[in-house]
Formats: sequence, C-alpha cells, structure tokens
Amino acid sequence: MKKIDIIDMGLIVLKPLVVEDIELLRQLRNLNDIRKNFVYDKYIDEESQKKWFVNYLEVNNDLMWSVFFQEEWCGAVAVYDIDLEKKEAEFGRIMLCPSIQGTGLGKKIIKGVLDYCKNMLNLRRIVLSVKVNNIPAIKSYLDTGFEFIEKKEEYYLMSLSFK
Ligand SMILES: CC(C)(COP(=O)(O)OP(=O)(O)OC[C@H]1O[C@@H](n2cnc3c(N)ncnc32)[C@H](O)[C@@H]1OP(=O)(O)O)[C@@H](O)C(=O)NCCC(=O)NCCS
Repeated sequence: MKKIDIIDMGLIVLKPLVVEDIELLRQLRNLNDIRKNFVYDKYIDEESQKKWFVNYLEVNNDLMWSVFFQEEWCGAVAVYDIDLEKKEAEFGRIMLCPSIQGTGLGKKIIKGVLDYCKNMLNLRRIVLSVKVNNIPAIKSYLDTGFEFIEKKEEYYLMSLSFK
C-alpha cells in the first residue's frame, strides 16, 4: 500500500493523486507546451492513462501529488524511483496549468516536495533530468538548490544533496 501524505503550504496544497484527478492530469499533460518538456512526449489517450494509474497505485516507490492553488486543481508533481536504502530518489513530472505559469509557484512546490523528501522520507539526495532549453524549469531547480551534474544529449542531469 502506497504511503503518501498531504503537503500543506497554505495557499498551495499538494494532495495525493487520486483517480478523480487523472483526466485533468491527462489533458494538461497532452498540451504541446507541456509534453514537449518530457522524455515521453506522445499524446496519452484515456485508456493508457487509466492503465498507467492502476500501475502507479501498485508501485510503492512512486509518489505523485495533485497541486491545488487556492483550492483549484492546477497541476501535478512527483518523486519516483525512491530508494529508501540508498536514500535517493528522482524528482519530476512537475507541470502547472498555463494560466498559473510564470508566477513562481513552481519553486514553492519544488521546495515543499524537497522538504517532504528530506523530513518525511529521510532521503539524502534527489536527482532529476531536464531539457536544456527548459529555462523556467532549470531556473526553478537552480533556485531550490539543485546543481548541474552533466549534460547528456538534450538533457541536463542535476542533483541536490541535503545538508
Ligand atoms: C517548470 C514549471 C513548473 C515552472 O513553473 P513557474 O513557477 O510558473 O516558473 P516561472 O515561469 O515562474 O519561471 C521560473 C523562473 O524562470 C524565469 N524564466 C522563465 N522563462 C525565462 C526565460 N525565457 N529567460 C530567463 N528566465 C526565465 C522566471 O522569470 C522565473 O524566475 P524568477 O523566479 O527569478 O522570477 C512550469 O513552467 C511548467 O509547468 N512547465 C511545463 C512542464 C515542465 O516543463 N515541467 C518540467 C519538466 S523537467
């Protein structure tokens, strides 16, 4: 059974992803300006989304939240490949509705998830990969403490070690 908590930051609340959210998530994920930033950038149909969610529920080392801003659903974020022995995980699948992008919300969400990883999951190191041309994401990651490790083709690998 997956153990995942609500991350309450006041106006921003991260709630565990539930089946009622997956159609909103699919529609957001399918926008060209969103999917171009992900490794898997193909259109996702309803059937695949449902199958993905069933599989997601069974995997304990993959935690995904819906983002609510002023109680409105406005995106998602995840931590996956969580290895509690190595105390490492990968950060990703962060996406915000276009209407709310450009407000710096991304950094607050990243910070909230990182605090959860450090304090609740007891992790020591978080890694991620980001496309080299994804400036808002790269800036948000640098501002929340990530550092570049290396460039691999069209991606930067970044990491953050908790003090
Ligand atoms: C990544 C994401 C969550 C960041 O959201 P956000 O908080 O709205 O990000 P912002 O647009 O406020 O940009 C963050 C920073 O980058 C800066 N920035 C954005 N575009 C820029 C550009 N073209 N040149 C220079 N700086 C830029 C912003 O000014 C801001 O800096 P500031 O905090 O100093 O003001 C959001 O852009 C998103 O959902 N993107 C689509 C999905 C995605 O790419 N996910 C990441 C996959 S790795």
